[in-house]
Amino acid sequence: MAEQTEKKLIFSGIQPTGVFTLGNYIGAIRNWGPLQDEYRCVYSVVDMHAITVRQDSVKLRQNTLQAYALLMACGIDLEKSLLFIQSHVHTHAELSWILSCNTQFGELSRMTQFKDKSQRHPDDMNAGLFTYPVLMAADILAYNADLVPVGVDQKQHLELARDIAQRFNQRYGDFFTMPEPYIPLVGAKVMSLQDPTKKMSKSDTNPNACILILDDKDTIIRKCKRAVTDSDTVVRYAEGKDGINNLMTIYSSVTGKDFDAIEREFDGQGYDTFKMAVGEAVADHLRPMQETYAKLIGDKKYLNECYTQSDAKALAYSSKIVQKVYHKIGFVDAR
Ligand code: TRP
Repeated sequence: MAEQTEKKLIFSGIQPTGVFTLGNYIGAIRNWGPLQDEYRCVYSVVDMHAITVRQDSVKLRQNTLQAYALLMACGIDLEKSLLFIQSHVHTHAELSWILSCNTQFGELSRMTQFKDKSQRHPDDMNAGLFTYPVLMAADILAYNADLVPVGVDQKQHLELARDIAQRFNQRYGDFFTMPEPYIPLVGAKVMSLQDPTKKMSKSDTNPNACILILDDKDTIIRKCKRAVTDSDTVVRYAEGKDGINNLMTIYSSVTGKDFDAIEREFDGQGYDTFKMAVGEAVADHLRPMQETYAKLIGDKKYLNECYTQSDAKALAYSSKIVQKVYHKIGFVDAR
């Protein structure tokens, strides 16, 4: 991470919950590469957040390394950015405790994700699920991040992080930077292939609804061929043609062609030809990334070097901030 202070710092955490979808990729991840020149980027695979729901330990370790390698394959460059594993950097847990003492029970009770998740896991309403947003605030504030790319589902958590920062600043004197949501300029929203009024999601019960970025070519083509479309036959972007609009969005995102060009390309050709072309284009677009991923995940020693290096930089950076916080709240200086 370059030390130029004029560049704003972006922080984002990614949960290790399995292979990303084409929606995650087009809507978010693939846009992170180009950000690295404009901002100081700090990315973390947030394994500590993941354990707020029950995890199989073998699977969690695999998923964490997989997410790490996938992010690298998708363009995060360790010469420019940090990409570290959250549990390796102890300042996050430490700051989380301090912030939890500056967060109200009522504030956490109002978090919609907590309400949803505790309903969905009534047998495991653990305290971590409740304090999850505090750990997220710690992730962000431990780096005094300026910007946090968030989807709608995380907006409330970011607002809470801002409230916590503001309260801390009032109590102890201005210290934390107020993190702002980062709304990406590019990045289309990709919908389910089976119900194009819903967002594409890997938790969809129908596996054909969602393309995973490690799917092989045949699988991708098959899923595209089965995509739900309307009864019209003209490839045209229009209201009421959600399925075709979605496939056009996908095709446009992976080929760079605009909608007019796509309409002309498939003029008079019908949906089957178009669906086949979308599948081919997606598979071709993902192939280089998949090859890079395969190399990375097969080289655990190299991966280890990568995260060890980023972990150390993240620790050095966040320790300076957390030490100042310790001092501000009145802990005796350790050294
Ligand atoms: N809660 C985020 C999610 O589920 C992940 C996350 C953890 C995060 N810490 C963060 C995102 C800090 C942004 C900044 O997607």
